[in-house]
Amino acid sequence: MTSVVPRFAVIGNPIAHSRSPRIHGLFGASLGVALDYQPLLCPLDGFPALIQQLRDQGYAGANVTLPFKSEAIACATGASVSAAECGASNTLSFRSVDIYADNTDGSGLVRDLRINHRFDLDGARVLLLGAGGAARGVVGSLLRAGVAQLDLFNRTRKRADDIVTTFARLAAQQAVPIASVSDSPLTDNEYNLVINATSAGLSERAPALPTARYSEGALAYDMVYGRETAFMHEARRAGARVADGLGMLVEQAADAFEIWHGARPATANVMATVREDLRAESRK
Ligand code: ATR
Repeated sequence: MTSVVPRFAVIGNPIAHSRSPRIHGLFGASLGVALDYQPLLCPLDGFPALIQQLRDQGYAGANVTLPFKSEAIACATGASVSAAECGASNTLSFRSVDIYADNTDGSGLVRDLRINHRFDLDGARVLLLGAGGAARGVVGSLLRAGVAQLDLFNRTRKRADDIVTTFARLAAQQAVPIASVSDSPLTDNEYNLVINATSAGLSERAPALPTARYSEGALAYDMVYGRETAFMHEARRAGARVADGLGMLVEQAADAFEIWHGARPATANVMATVREDLRAESRK
């Protein structure tokens, strides 16, 4: 009997930059799990059709990245709490007639902070910069992680207000004050953790982000990886410890891998390998 290698994909637009095929390949090799994992460029209006095609071809699941994470949950027949509460999914599992949507971005961030950066989230005063999908995807996990306070700042304040409204109930349940802040009172507060979830670091222009005040030993975390952003540069100058989002990328992938294969891969070597890939590419 020939065994069938399960097939997976990461779907996005653009997609060529994605590290997910490399990461899942390394996880599979480390655990002796055979898998086929391909990057798929999806036309902007073609997400539902592509999902149908993958299911017809017997794919077992797919990771979903920009700009399809909301469409991913819309096409699902069931969703985890983390996916449902932020209205977005990065991990789809195809199970006979069902499509199950998970979101591992928040759990990946929390795991990276706690384990890889040894950051104690318990009682931390946290500022989240940005109010797009990247920010929305981690709010629930931060609220559940024991933080003492979660402030949100966004260039367009209304979007931050909307996130506060969405998560008000969970924040109350967790007894965590959540607020949208404008940049003037921002400088009155000191934060233990500032997370940049804006796409500002992706443009060459210096971002229009407020400079936060960091408490002693604070961490500045940029979800962007593989480059020093203006946010990271500013934070370093302000005396904060600085991290990029590579660990979150690898940890969210490890969570997806565990959902699909039922085995948890170790992440440290994979992070080091991907970091080396990035270095080698930047030297070219
Ligand atoms: P994503 O899903 O990756 O979060 P998005 O929904 O386009 O992408 O959100 C991008 C985020 O980065 C938003 O918070 C955006 O601010 P606005 O809501 O005001 O647009 C923020 N952003 C992008 N470029 C920025 C810049 N140069 N300065 C400040 N914020 C920026």
